Amino acid sequence: MTNILLDLNILLDYYEEERRERFPASVEVFEFLKQKDFVFISGSSIDNFEFMKYNLLKIEYPKMTRKQVLQIVHAMIKEFLSYFKIAKTPSYIELDYEDIEDSQVIASAKAVNAQVVTRDRKMMEKYPDHTISPENFLKTKNQQPATSIDFANLKKQYFIYQPELEKEMDMVLNNTSYIMGDAVVELEKNLQTFTGAKYAITCSSGTDALLLAMMALDIKPGDEIITTPFTFIATAETIAFLGAVPVFVDIDEKTYNIDATKIEAAITEKTKAIMPVSLYGQPADIDAIQAIADKRLKTKNQKLHIIIDGAQSFGATYKGKTDSNLGDISTTSFFPAKPLGCFGDGGAVFTNNEKLATKIRSLRVHGQSKRYHHQYIGMGGRMDTLQCAIVNVKLKYYKKDLALRQEVAKKYNQKLKTKNQKLTTPTVEENRTSVWAQYSIQINANDQEPTTRDQLQKELKTVGIPTAVHYPIPLHLQECFKYLEYKKGAFPIAEKVSEEIMSLPMNPYLSDEEIEYITQTL
Ligand SMILES: Cc1ncc(COP(=O)(O)O)c(C=O)c1O
Repeated sequence: MTNILLDLNILLDYYEEERRERFPASVEVFEFLKQKDFVFISGSSIDNFEFMKYNLLKIEYPKMTRKQVLQIVHAMIKEFLSYFKIAKTPSYIELDYEDIEDSQVIASAKAVNAQVVTRDRKMMEKYPDHTISPENFLKTKNQQPATSIDFANLKKQYFIYQPELEKEMDMVLNNTSYIMGDAVVELEKNLQTFTGAKYAITCSSGTDALLLAMMALDIKPGDEIITTPFTFIATAETIAFLGAVPVFVDIDEKTYNIDATKIEAAITEKTKAIMPVSLYGQPADIDAIQAIADKRLKTKNQKLHIIIDGAQSFGATYKGKTDSNLGDISTTSFFPAKPLGCFGDGGAVFTNNEKLATKIRSLRVHGQSKRYHHQYIGMGGRMDTLQCAIVNVKLKYYKKDLALRQEVAKKYNQKLKTKNQKLTTPTVEENRTSVWAQYSIQINANDQEPTTRDQLQKELKTVGIPTAVHYPIPLHLQECFKYLEYKKGAFPIAEKVSEEIMSLPMNPYLSDEEIEYITQTL
C-alpha cells in the first residue's frame, strides 16, 4: 500500500456528529487507517483544524470558556496525532496563491510520497495524480494484494524513527559540520559503550573498515590471510586489493562460518592474519581461532593477527562478549540493510589496542598525524556526520530491534522445524548469539530431489514472498580469484551450501501472520 495523507476535511468529518452521518466514507477511512502505518496529516492542517473546530464548538456551546473549548479541540488533535504522523511543509513548496492551503497539503504529501484522501473537489480536479476520494480509497483498499512481504522493511523502520531522524538530520544540515562533526564523536562513544570495545573508529564503509584494519596491521603484498570462501566479496577482495593473498579454508556445516579445525593446515610462514566472518550475524569460534594463533606464536614465534569481519554481526556475542570486542581488530558495516544501518555507506573499526586505534584514526584521514602532516599512506575513509547522526538515533533502539529479530528467528525455527524435514534451519551455537542479519535456510538436495532453490524462489515471489541467496558462488570460484587457482571441489561444504542456501525475509517487524504465511507456503 502506498503512503496516505489525510486532508483536513476527513479529520473534521470524523470529529463532528453531523458530518459523521453525512460522510460515512470519511469515518470508515479514518477508522481503517488509524491501525495502519505510513499515514500522515499535513502540519498545516493542525492549526486549521484548531481554528475551524474552535469556531464550530464556540457556536454550539456559547457558554463554554475559550479555555474549555480549546481543551476539547486539543484532545482531538492529540488523539489523531497518536495515530498519524506529521508531514512537514517542505521548503521547496510551490505555493499556489489561489489556494495556499491545498498547495501546502499537496506539497507535504509529495514529501512523504503519499496520496491525499480528500473530499475537496477543487483539490481533486487540480491534483488528480495525488488525490483520491474516500469512496474510491475504500474500493481500492480492498483490491490490495493479499500479501506482499517486505524483506528488510527499512521503510517501516524509517517511519517509526522518522521524527527523531528528521530532527538529527536537520541539525547536521543546519550546523554544516558535515565531516567529523559532533555526531561522529558521539557515535564513537556510543559504539564503545554498546560493544565494550575500548576504541571505536567510524569509517566510510564495512569494506573500508577491513582495509583500515589490514593497513593498521601493516599487511603487505605477498602476505597471506586465512579466511572463509563463503562470504560477501569484500572480505577477500580487500585482502587482494592490498596485494595480499586470501587463503581459503572450508566452512563449518552448522554455522556456515570458517571451520576452525581446518585453519592450522593452511598456515604458512607467510600467514599474517586470520579473518573469520560472523556470517548472517553469528560469530565464528573465536576461542578456537585465538588458540591457534597463540600456539603459533608459542611454537614458531609467528604472530597471527585476528581480524573479525563483523559486517553482518553488530551486537552479536561470543561467550557474553560482543564480537566487536574480540580479536585484534573487529569491523562492522552500517550498510542500510544491515541490522544497524545508516542511509548510505558507513562502517566502524574496533580494537582494544591504543596504538592500533591511533593508527587507524590517522589512516582514515590520509595517514595524517596533524593537519597536512602525513605519517602513513592512508585513505579518505571518514563516515559522514549525517550518517553518524542517523546511526546514533537507531542505536538507541537497537537492543529492542535485536530482541524483535530474535523473536522472529525463534518463530521461524519453531514453525519450520516441525513442518518440513527438507529444510535445514539455522544453528546458533550455545555460547553465541546471532543478530540475524539474515535468516537463511538450506534447501536440502539429494539424488532423487536435486535442489529446487531457483524454482522455489520464483514460486515464492509470485505469492508475495521475497527471498535472496547469500551467496550463490563461493569466493574461490569467482572469476576475479581465478589467479589463485582453486578448483571446484576445493571446499565441498562451502560449495554445497552455496547451492542450497536461501534467505527468508528478516526484519524486526515481521508479524505473526506474515511468519505463518511464509512458513505455511514453504
Ligand atoms: C561479510 C561482509 N563483509 C564486508 C562487507 C562490506 O560492507 P560495506 O557494504 O559496508 O562496504 C559486507 C557487506 O555486505 C559483508 O556482508
